Amino acid sequence: MSSGVEAMVRDGDQRAASSAPTARVAMVGGGQLARMTHQAAIDYGIELHVLAQSTADSAVSAGARYTLGRADDAGLLRRLASDADVTTFDHELVPLDELRAMASEGCAIRPRADALVLGCDKLFAREAVSGLGDHSVPVPAFVPVAGPADVAAFAERHGWPVVLKARHGGYDGRGVVIAHDAAAVERVLSTERGGDGPQWVVEEHLDIAAEFAVLVARSPSGYTATYPPIGTLQVEGICRELTIPADLPEEVVQQAATWARSILEGVDATGIVAVEYFVTDDGRLLLNEFALRPHNSGHITLEACTTSQFHQHLRAVLDWPLGATGLLRPAATVNLIADAATTELASRLPLALAVPDVHVHLYQKAPRPGRKVGHVTALADSVPEALERARTAADRFFG
Ligand SMILES: Nc1ncnc2c1ncn2[C@@H]1O[C@H](COP(=O)(O)OP(=O)(O)OP(=O)(O)O)[C@@H](O)[C@H]1O
Ligand SMILES: [Mg+2]
Repeated sequence: MSSGVEAMVRDGDQRAASSAPTARVAMVGGGQLARMTHQAAIDYGIELHVLAQSTADSAVSAGARYTLGRADDAGLLRRLASDADVTTFDHELVPLDELRAMASEGCAIRPRADALVLGCDKLFAREAVSGLGDHSVPVPAFVPVAGPADVAAFAERHGWPVVLKARHGGYDGRGVVIAHDAAAVERVLSTERGGDGPQWVVEEHLDIAAEFAVLVARSPSGYTATYPPIGTLQVEGICRELTIPADLPEEVVQQAATWARSILEGVDATGIVAVEYFVTDDGRLLLNEFALRPHNSGHITLEACTTSQFHQHLRAVLDWPLGATGLLRPAATVNLIADAATTELASRLPLALAVPDVHVHLYQKAPRPGRKVGHVTALADSVPEALERARTAADRFFG
């Protein structure tokens, strides 16, 4: 796929909106996405103010201005938003009704709650994109789960195993369970999740040939910029590796990008949005899920693309002109995922840096098994070459 510039300028030339000398952006959440957004904010002279949970949060360690508190604290959210030109997010655990109320009082909440919900509620997202009649986008076969009988009836039609997904709050494969029989379903559903209505979705277990993400930035003025497709490799639900450009037929990429843009337009999303897709062994292209914020897959854009997802997110939420999204060179990223033996990474950094031409990002997060604590990106003449180099450097962090 070519760069997203064509898509971006199709509505005519973008004009720079005038704004106050120092733009102030509030970000709910202080993790590594906020940290890297802060780095981009520094480039643009933007003041980023994060709502963090603790002073150990990754963005706080990076020097971002911060307030400590919970993301569902309505009073805190209001204070944060009233002090900023725009409020945006590094995670989805946010009170949508409160955000709706704040928007109606004049706060610029980007993306808006009615778009954000696509990333917060897997059942809503599945129903929204598959229920558009002629405009439906294919998703895995699914039904909401009110109890074990729903899963049994679904498995009757689609066979075992099935995949149970928590409706809210899952990430890195937490909240995604492959169930091989009714006993496993009982065990999963007995975990109390709270909330009204079905808290689980059951879907067909797919034989996946490839996974990829389409990143689209959209501004309040309606401009969009689409990135080249990013291949993702998940192991046990956690994203391990990224490649750009993903090795996919052009028509698949175009279809996925067209669907992504039309959904984002439909809900008037703003900011960077990642849309995750599956390609199945039997050749189906299915939409998996949305993230309405910078996304792990987009880390590769830091070095591989003209404009990183973090710079682009800031430009989009501030309604500034979007940047070109073209690929500079083929690239690969390997996530650094802590294991039980990981105590810290910093002392091994020089070993990794001895691999020529790699870019290392450490998040200053306490290593816990399964936790993403950094990533390594390599650029090369080909994706396999980049992948080999990134893996070599990443391996040097682990004994
Ligand atoms: N129906 C399915 N069939 C087979 N594998 C699946 C299915 N759904 C999800 N997976 C696998 O589990 C991974 C995680 O699932 P999903 O992206 O839905 O959840 P998540 O934990 O919210 O992810 P993220 O960390 O991207 O937020 C997928 O990337 C895929 O590898
Ligand atoms: Mg996912």
